[in-house]
Amino acid sequence: MCGIVGYIGKRNAVTVLLNGLQRLEYRGYDSAGLSIIEDGNLLTFKKQGKVKELIKVLEGKEFKANIGIAHTRWATHGEPSDINAHPHHDNSGNIAIVHNGIIENYASLKQMLISKGYKFVSATDTEVLAVLIGYFYEKVKDLEEAVRTALTEVQGTFGLAVLSTYEPNKIIAARRGSPMIVGLGEEEFIVASDASAIIQYTRQVIYLSDNEMVTLNNENYYTKTIDNIRTNNIVHLVDFDLSKIEKGGFEHFMLKEIFEQPQTIRDACRGRLIVEEGIARLGGLLPVLDKLREVDRIIITGCGTSWHAGLVGEYLIENLCEIPVEVEYASEFRYRNPILRKNDIVIAISQSGETADTLAAVQEAKQKNATVLGIVNVVGSSIARQTDAGVYIHAGPEIGVASTKAFTSQLVVLTLISLLLGRMRNLSKIEGIRIARGIKELPEKVEKILEKADQIKEIAREFKYSRNFLYLGRGYNFPVALEGALKLKEISYIHAEGYPSAEMKHGPIALIDENMPVVFIAPKDEIYDKVISNIEEVRSRKGRVIAIATENDETITRYAERVIYIPDTLPMLTPILTVIPLQLLAYYIAVELGCNVDQPRNLAKSVTVE
Ligand code: M6R
Repeated sequence: MCGIVGYIGKRNAVTVLLNGLQRLEYRGYDSAGLSIIEDGNLLTFKKQGKVKELIKVLEGKEFKANIGIAHTRWATHGEPSDINAHPHHDNSGNIAIVHNGIIENYASLKQMLISKGYKFVSATDTEVLAVLIGYFYEKVKDLEEAVRTALTEVQGTFGLAVLSTYEPNKIIAARRGSPMIVGLGEEEFIVASDASAIIQYTRQVIYLSDNEMVTLNNENYYTKTIDNIRTNNIVHLVDFDLSKIEKGGFEHFMLKEIFEQPQTIRDACRGRLIVEEGIARLGGLLPVLDKLREVDRIIITGCGTSWHAGLVGEYLIENLCEIPVEVEYASEFRYRNPILRKNDIVIAISQSGETADTLAAVQEAKQKNATVLGIVNVVGSSIARQTDAGVYIHAGPEIGVASTKAFTSQLVVLTLISLLLGRMRNLSKIEGIRIARGIKELPEKVEKILEKADQIKEIAREFKYSRNFLYLGRGYNFPVALEGALKLKEISYIHAEGYPSAEMKHGPIALIDENMPVVFIAPKDEIYDKVISNIEEVRSRKGRVIAIATENDETITRYAERVIYIPDTLPMLTPILTVIPLQLLAYYIAVELGCNVDQPRNLAKSVTVE
């Protein structure tokens, strides 16, 4: 995914655009660029590397333009380079475009344009779209119509913004499968791929729908479909402020977000947990309560960390509600002709609400007439809008590429859903109250774990040079082992694998020697003794054991070289606690190794391409 921002108004456009790019940089950071119109000329600056490289290019230059578009890129077509960076121009050099998504039929369009004498300088699909718009402009002499006609020719996905000296007081933006939001200020508009680039100026926004475009000029805006039908949009209020997207004194967003978890867990429960009655009230599910009552099977889908949350959800729902659950990678779901029956419910989990594979899984499920629910963080995102009903996790903006607070909030919401469904079935009030009390106590328990940050930093120093790690857990904590391994590899580039503890003997045990740290997630629960046996198997092969264990567990110190304690809680809630030390361990190892924690190589916050 990439970041787009466009501005038209009275401010200095370059300042607004650079501010926006810095806020959007977590979406992609291999090159950045901007175009403005100044004194009737289209000026474009672009540079491979992070936004700070673009800023260096602009240093010492004075600009007075009040209109412009900008982009920060995560490469899909064409390697990261100055030439492949956006904006791209048409052949006349009078039209500039920034684009997120993929133009799937770019090769045939390019061929058609080349046969008519058009030239290309980059390897991108976006340039093809720029040249195509220029081609249509020559015919219709109307920018909006040229953009619209070009988009009717395009297969694939786009969020885009277009600027041209032909009509210098206009920005045209459009979307299909890649988010675009328009911020409505006083005599100014900011169009962006997410709200973080907008809220410094206004909190009133409209969300473009798929196949919708907007034309912005100095005074007003209007929207229409790409098929040329005028549309009306509801104005929404973005409910977070600037402090939520700033580091607030922390060295990295990831660390800030790890430390926000006591609060984000509270926010996920706010107004939803009725402890005295042992139930959860989830307003977002009211429209589908009848369907939930009749559900025969639940299919949970998502990618990466959200998929791991889904795996915990499987254990929760099967245990508390006795409903069969399957968890499926969203990227596989639509390619295997999933069989969906009348009383099946699909739950899509996504922090961003924009992950292309998860969105495609939602669409596939809807096409097969399934009821589709969302567990999403970003309000107004595509998945939130395309699902039949759902529950927001309310974790606030997550900027660190490695997902942390979203995971624990997803787990809280999955527990609330399980409580709701369980109480609609056979779960007793007493058991419901016990679970609800456990949930309510979680924020304080997370705070206690965060107090151990220095101890975890020490462990990170000790193990930072290991080139491989194994993470092992059982039951509810098997998905946490996967999540711990994912956190480590994505931000520190150390190879790490997660396994169910008992599965180790079926292969990974061959890897164990004195150089292999093995992180065991071993809270006191009904399978604790089995995990201890697995730890012994590792110790007898000289593996170095780091254990996540329940406080007051003295036994574990006989087996593990290092122990990080978590407060006691119900087994089903342990993942919300055991994952916190693993997030911190990954974070501190990455920092020790000098890695860019918030913007790890090759990654982007949300993967909006297949
Ligand atoms: O926004 P989503 O939750 O749909 O994103 C899914 C994955 O791309 C995401 O969890 C990814 O694996 C993270 N980088 C993990 O930290």
